[in-house]
Amino acid sequence: MIEADFAVLEAGELVTAAGPAPRRGASLGEAGVIPGGCLAARGGDIVFVGSAQDYRREVRLRTGAVTIDASGRTVLPGYVDPHTHLPFAGWREAELVQRLRGETYESIAARGGGILSTVGATRRASLEDLVALGRGRLDRMLLHGTTTVEAKSGYGLDLESELKQLEALRLLAAEHPVDVIPTFLGAHVVPRERRSDRSGYVRDVAETMIPEVARRRLARFCDVFVDDGAFTVEEAETILGAARSAGLGLRVHADQRRPGGGACLAARLEAASADHLDHVDPAGIEALAGSGTTAVLLPGASFFLREVLDAPARRLVEAGVPVALATDFNPGTCPTEAMSAILPLACLRMGLLPGEAIVAATLNAAYSLGLSSRIGSLEPGKQADLQIQDVPSHAHLVYQFGVNHCVTVVKRGRIVVQDGRLLRD
Ligand code: NIG
Ligand code: FE
Repeated sequence: MIEADFAVLEAGELVTAAGPAPRRGASLGEAGVIPGGCLAARGGDIVFVGSAQDYRREVRLRTGAVTIDASGRTVLPGYVDPHTHLPFAGWREAELVQRLRGETYESIAARGGGILSTVGATRRASLEDLVALGRGRLDRMLLHGTTTVEAKSGYGLDLESELKQLEALRLLAAEHPVDVIPTFLGAHVVPRERRSDRSGYVRDVAETMIPEVARRRLARFCDVFVDDGAFTVEEAETILGAARSAGLGLRVHADQRRPGGGACLAARLEAASADHLDHVDPAGIEALAGSGTTAVLLPGASFFLREVLDAPARRLVEAGVPVALATDFNPGTCPTEAMSAILPLACLRMGLLPGEAIVAATLNAAYSLGLSSRIGSLEPGKQADLQIQDVPSHAHLVYQFGVNHCVTVVKRGRIVVQDGRLLRD
């Protein structure tokens, strides 16, 4: 018999996403749905996943074990959100209204709004402010079913302020049930005071900031925004080369606003991810298909910017590129913390199927962070990170959009959200 101290019993549907990562092509849709499925864990790790019949035959619960009745509900892995800009101060709701009146994201940025206005607010914020803001955001993520999140700096743009953002992430990771994977994005844009000295700023990022961030072990990845208003492919190559030498993994904001060679660069450098890709061209898709790079798609950002075009999700899947989904949570292009808001957009705007969207938001997202051996699916040996949604089948997560159906969240075998509320220690 398999001994367990935690079990979820007889779900309406248990969606496992189990199997080797990453999922490419047709295997993206193999969500592993077990009607009436059960799951058991011991010491925070999953020890059994299967039918109710097999559960009764194989699992023995220890005294004091915690059990959850999931009948009529859908159980799935906790969402892994592999692209957020979490530690910022200040909102930009006025820009939303300006855009609704006809201004563009670029014209607002050119007047000093956009990313640079968030840089100002974030520089003025204290470390404690950023931690308090981040705590509320992580709470909301957890309440919507996210159990692991990647989070980028990039609103500091000088050494001290970038370190402050990353330090906030370190403190949040230590106190919060959501796992936080930090990324250094010192090359988000060139800060205002360095506009006449771009090459000096690029050198600073590569030669001063990256070594210091790495020395303090404050980031696992380095990201660069490759775009007209941000950094060129050549500049990105310098920065990402320095990041690799410092032991950081690589991520790239690629082909978001226009085709710019970002996807090809990410593939050439074997980056962990190429993100956005709204304007990726056929050469970029082919390069990604031949690399180990995951395409992290952010339909919330193109929706929020009212873009007609989304990333070509179906073409990427058909080409064999591993596709993941993320919120891109940030104050300018996607101010939602909820992965549950992203799945309907990925299906209704990009044409993914509900099962594909779930695998993209769990297993492939975990793969893009180098974590798929521990999280992202429900299978023996992995961490018991899961969510229970009060819907009878996984298609309802897309169908009944705009409502938070998440009632229970479990992190490492421990209940952290119950009846839709956070449980504090
Ligand atoms: O991922 N593309 C660059 N950065 C963010 C937007 C940041 C902002 O507008 O504050 C993004 O969309
Ligand atoms: Fe982003």
